[in-house]
Amino acid sequence: MPGTAGRGVNYWSAAPGLADAFGPAGADGATSIPLELTIRTLAAILPDRPLRVVDLGGGDAVLAIRLSAMNHAVVVQDIDPHMIARGEQRLARHPRAIRDRIRLICADGATIAADQVEIADLVCCHSVLMYEDDPAPLVRTSVALCKPDGLVSIIAINPAAAAMRAGLAGRWREARIALETGDDAHGPYAASRNHARETIVALLAAAGAAVVAWSGIGIFTDHHSGAIVADDPQEVLRAEWLAGRQDPYRQVARCYHLIARKT
Ligand SMILES: C[S@@+](CC[C@H](N)C(=O)[O-])C[C@H]1O[C@@H](n2cnc3c(N)ncnc32)[C@H](O)[C@@H]1O
Repeated sequence: MPGTAGRGVNYWSAAPGLADAFGPAGADGATSIPLELTIRTLAAILPDRPLRVVDLGGGDAVLAIRLSAMNHAVVVQDIDPHMIARGEQRLARHPRAIRDRIRLICADGATIAADQVEIADLVCCHSVLMYEDDPAPLVRTSVALCKPDGLVSIIAINPAAAAMRAGLAGRWREARIALETGDDAHGPYAASRNHARETIVALLAAAGAAVVAWSGIGIFTDHHSGAIVADDPQEVLRAEWLAGRQDPYRQVARCYHLIARKT
């Protein structure tokens, strides 16, 4: 399987075509419950001024466009040229003011040039660590890119909740195997490696960033593959938001969202 600069398998690069299977292709107003929760979490903690952001693995530019609309300048660094192409297509449909604050770079997120050290007020690495056998290089780069006192935002699949998606969707065999094996590798998903929250918290600490907040994403809604029926969609978001911030709910969320501050 293809690796990334000798540090083990990168499961995204190893599965050609993932870009085509990913996300709401071509949707201009692309959004989702996880994205809205992510934006709310960031908006609640970010200082109220234009920031420099690096988004590792944000090639389709969905988050970058939202952050640019909040007046932040965003550099997206993504390993997959197809995802960067999707990002360019999406950007082309947005006003110049939004586009001008975004730069898309096709490169491994774990690589960092000398002039990139400590350039960012916020570094995002969302739903990327699962594609790395070894998450340490990406975590180290995220912290290295960040200015002192800046923030690192990491979203990753929560292996402690491996059986929840299949169980809530009524896929009982998958749920049973996930409980027996501790992972959902047998499910209908591309290969990945889900790293425990404690592992990533420890890697952040070793790199010089302390977790200041964490929440769960996708507690009540992750298993829905179709539209979610609700009289008021805001109530869905509000329920997910509140549950994501309290135990025991956040412990069984599909993803954990860590916010760490560089010391
Ligand atoms: C599931 S998508 C996540 C996209 C977006 N960050 C989000 O939260 O929706 C994973 C992205 O990570 C990128 N990726 C995987 N390994 C990477 C690496 N080592 N460096 C940079 N990007 C990587 C893929 O190309 C893909 O765009």
